Amino acid sequence: MFYSEEIIEEVRSRNPIVDVIGSYVHLTKKGGGYFGLCPFHNEKTGSFSVSPSRRTYQCFGCGKGGNVITFIMDYENCTFPEALQFLAERGGVELPKQEFTAAQRQEADRRSRLLAMYREAAFFYVRMLRSPQGKIGYDYLKKRGLSDETIRNFGLGYALQSPNALYRYLKEKEYTDAELKESGFFTYRERGVTDKFWNRVMFPIMDTNNRVIGFGGRVMGDGEPKYLNSPETMIFDKSRNLYGLNAAKRSRERFLLVCEGYMDVISMHQAGFTNAVASLGTAFTVQHGMILKRYTEEVVLCYDHDNAGKKAALRAIPILKEAGLRIKVLDLAPYKDPDEFIKALGADAFRARVESAVNAFLFEIACLRETYDFTDPDDKTRFFTETASKLAAFMDEIERNAYTESVAAAYGIDYGVLKARVSEIGNRQGLMQAPEETRKPAASGFPGQKKETGLQKAERMILTDLSGSPEHFQAIRRVLSPSDFSTPLLQDVAACLYDQLERNALNAALLIDRFIDNEQYGEVTSLLSSVFMEDAEEEERKQALREAVLRVKADSLERKAAAAQDPGTLMELMKQKQDLRNLPVF
Ligand code: UTP
Ligand code: MN
Repeated sequence: MFYSEEIIEEVRSRNPIVDVIGSYVHLTKKGGGYFGLCPFHNEKTGSFSVSPSRRTYQCFGCGKGGNVITFIMDYENCTFPEALQFLAERGGVELPKQEFTAAQRQEADRRSRLLAMYREAAFFYVRMLRSPQGKIGYDYLKKRGLSDETIRNFGLGYALQSPNALYRYLKEKEYTDAELKESGFFTYRERGVTDKFWNRVMFPIMDTNNRVIGFGGRVMGDGEPKYLNSPETMIFDKSRNLYGLNAAKRSRERFLLVCEGYMDVISMHQAGFTNAVASLGTAFTVQHGMILKRYTEEVVLCYDHDNAGKKAALRAIPILKEAGLRIKVLDLAPYKDPDEFIKALGADAFRARVESAVNAFLFEIACLRETYDFTDPDDKTRFFTETASKLAAFMDEIERNAYTESVAAAYGIDYGVLKARVSEIGNRQGLMQAPEETRKPAASGFPGQKKETGLQKAERMILTDLSGSPEHFQAIRRVLSPSDFSTPLLQDVAACLYDQLERNALNAALLIDRFIDNEQYGEVTSLLSSVFMEDAEEEERKQALREAVLRVKADSLERKAAAAQDPGTLMELMKQKQDLRNLPVF
């Protein structure tokens, strides 16, 4: 399926790359580029950069890179036409009608059939809850304090106490065996097929477009497991979905409440806190953090008041912080979770707790405090040293001092003494002098990243420079032609770049499209997305570039000489090589 270059360009121009990626990743401006945490691999330092002038992105860590369309393909896990469609809608561009290829049709069909099946199942469970056999489920939900309106709003249902009620129902709807199998609803044994959910109240999990993508089913009373969850499928990725977000995203509150469970979310919504979501038992992921950042600036963690909840909060805090969110932690004591708290003390008391939620840093320090015995002077000293070293990690002086002050007040230490300790540690770690240095992407140990030779480095430098600085083209082309590059791939890239530059139509983002199906796509995107000596002076850059150009030319002439058939050609090549020394590039 083909769209014309013009229409693709139009879509791209209506979707500035910093806006699009910025809605997924928290980006910070630095120099001419933007930096953030790579959404494609787990990391704590920002190796991910976006260049608005080239309209490309690149991760130094995992090597992913490309243009705004490939970003959507990677992030949303979709095909080129789907990504284009998505961006066209986002940017208000009307795409011409296209025929899908058979394979694309099939893929889209499989997805939509699965979504339809999940919706069908959700309706089935809702109907069962209202049936006489489902009364036990309905009574359970009522006993837990849910109103009819809440039950309806969250689409709660009931799975019958029957071996295969859902299976028979969906079979009648003419889903194929392969589709039923892929749904994850059933267990296949020699003796036959059975439903996985039996005699449970059912909580449909929806994506932010209100489409049912999974279920959690709770036993009524005691039993193991307490909640059974449907498996991940092509429509359900647990690390990228938050329960309740479909409703919470419409809330006007300026923060989101993040809790652990289905019932917590539902209770909070019922009590008027319609900005509650849950990460559903699974550990909080970097993707969860980024998704939340799309909808809010601040998160209030309402994890269970027990050891597991505390641990989960301590784990989620750094992830949320890296996503660029402000974080507070709510204290539920003496109740176990938001559901129980609200049931016992009501909405007003809960609101008061939200308002008095403590800042995540102070929460971390309070957790640390519990692991030390203050009656032991050694222990007490260690606590302060550790706290001071955490304070020293704040880069911003005003912020660092403000936290130092709060901690000093909370634990009864002299502010001046604590501050002195913080500076001492800070100086020792060199953090305060050179915060930038510590954030430079380290030489990462990703597989497949081979050490470059000098020649490769030079070739790469030239192409990278050309793709961002068209003003250098005339000088470079006087010496180098695309055939001077050492590999077919680089020759291709150079030829495309030269072509664009000759037409005065440099467009790195468009060039990337050409190489999408190339095995060495990653290499191409990194050539076209890196920033070349961005912080250096123009003269310095030209000097480096000059050396690179001469190096590449010399190598090319040598290769040609080695392949030369007659003495005349050889002589000519050697002469050219000698002349190189006096060749002015710039
Ligand atoms: P909890 O055990 O805290 O349950 O698990 P809860 O939310 O308080 O549930 P109720 O109030 O007893 O009904 C928190 C979340 O962890 C996941 C579920 O998403 C649950 O809501 N979980 C828990 C499971 O997936 N499986 C389990 O067996 C238990
Ligand atoms: Mn609970």
